[in-house]
Amino acid sequence: MTSAVFAAEKRQVPQMGELTSYESGPLISEATLAADGVSLTWQTGDRTTLPLLWLRDHCACSECRHPQTRERLYLPLADIDELPGITLAEGHLYLQWTDGHVSAFHSGWLHQRRPEARLTSAVPAPMPWVDNFFPERIRHADFLTPEGEKAWLTAMLRDGLALVDEAPLIEEEVSRLAERIGPLRSTNFGARFDVRSKPNPNNAAYTAVGLPLHIDLPNWRQPPDIQLLYCLQNEASGGESLFADGIRVINALRQQDPEALAILSETPIDFRFQDETHDIAFKAPVVTLDGHGHLVEMRLNNWIRDALHLPAAQMDAWYRAYRLLWQLFHSQAHQLEFALQSGQMIAFDNRRVLHGRREFDPNSGARHLQGTYLDRDMLASRLRVLARHA
Ligand code: OGA
Ligand code: ZN
Ligand code: ZN
Repeated sequence: MTSAVFAAEKRQVPQMGELTSYESGPLISEATLAADGVSLTWQTGDRTTLPLLWLRDHCACSECRHPQTRERLYLPLADIDELPGITLAEGHLYLQWTDGHVSAFHSGWLHQRRPEARLTSAVPAPMPWVDNFFPERIRHADFLTPEGEKAWLTAMLRDGLALVDEAPLIEEEVSRLAERIGPLRSTNFGARFDVRSKPNPNNAAYTAVGLPLHIDLPNWRQPPDIQLLYCLQNEASGGESLFADGIRVINALRQQDPEALAILSETPIDFRFQDETHDIAFKAPVVTLDGHGHLVEMRLNNWIRDALHLPAAQMDAWYRAYRLLWQLFHSQAHQLEFALQSGQMIAFDNRRVLHGRREFDPNSGARHLQGTYLDRDMLASRLRVLARHA
């Protein structure tokens, strides 16, 4: 009955309007109408049944999906009550709906999107640091190649920390590297900032004092995700870098004192930065967990913690829990320490991995880092783009 529409000369291999590859998936060997949709069997033996409304919603023709933007135009507001005509040709699926509309589906795309498929992603899940963790090192020259960039992005998203080595000592190289990934995330300290001891500092980082482990900008509703610190000079004595993994430390706290973790994750506290031109404040717990108890974000930064505004009866317990977390983060078991050398760039997930530095002596030599921030979404995006034709 539908043979006219599906005449062989009119058929082309269906295009699904996707840049991620699906073309290498298996062909469909059988397609039948079932009470609850279309049942498909692929040559691999995989089977599924897809509801008619789902199939109609995913039509990739130029009326249903914009041919340039690839975005959905079809709006699934009506039920599909009448059965379509169904044709299997060269292993791909063609449906003719009762209003005459034709939908063509690539077998590989359907295989990739079937409900039973385990969704795979180029973006790795975060993994807690193991004992004696040391960040992956990627040479600057390699970072400029797709393979090196992929290695850096993968390490960043998995470990939340990665080191670039053998980088040239030129100003603004940090911005050029960051801009390969995405637009720089600006803050009240600018899109790109210099870390060195300055006269009239408005931030502890711009002095020579030691910085215990912290995240930057917990006083923002959304603190920057990724921080890059590019070392141009580090001849001063002291100033070693410190890092600790929030996921690992929160797991340890949960083991040691779940009540302390409950207090820190359920008690919003105030953070605030003030200078002549800004007063940026936000209230949130020191630890945010998701419904499974996984770390969403850390907000630990002792020097821009605002006055603790809690019922007096809760204060001692909060301070006790805070002290315990602090000690865990700064313990030998969890804190990683090494001296950044000029020509190295360290980057970290600011909302997961805490960072700090030892005090340094500005009279003993120069210390100059250039820094910027990026959104984590842009790292994941770059990785998906690089993986498209892997
Ligand atoms: C910062 C910072 C670390 C350093 O600028 O936020 O933590 O090594 N700097 O100076
Ligand atoms: Zn369509
Ligand atoms: Zn910092």
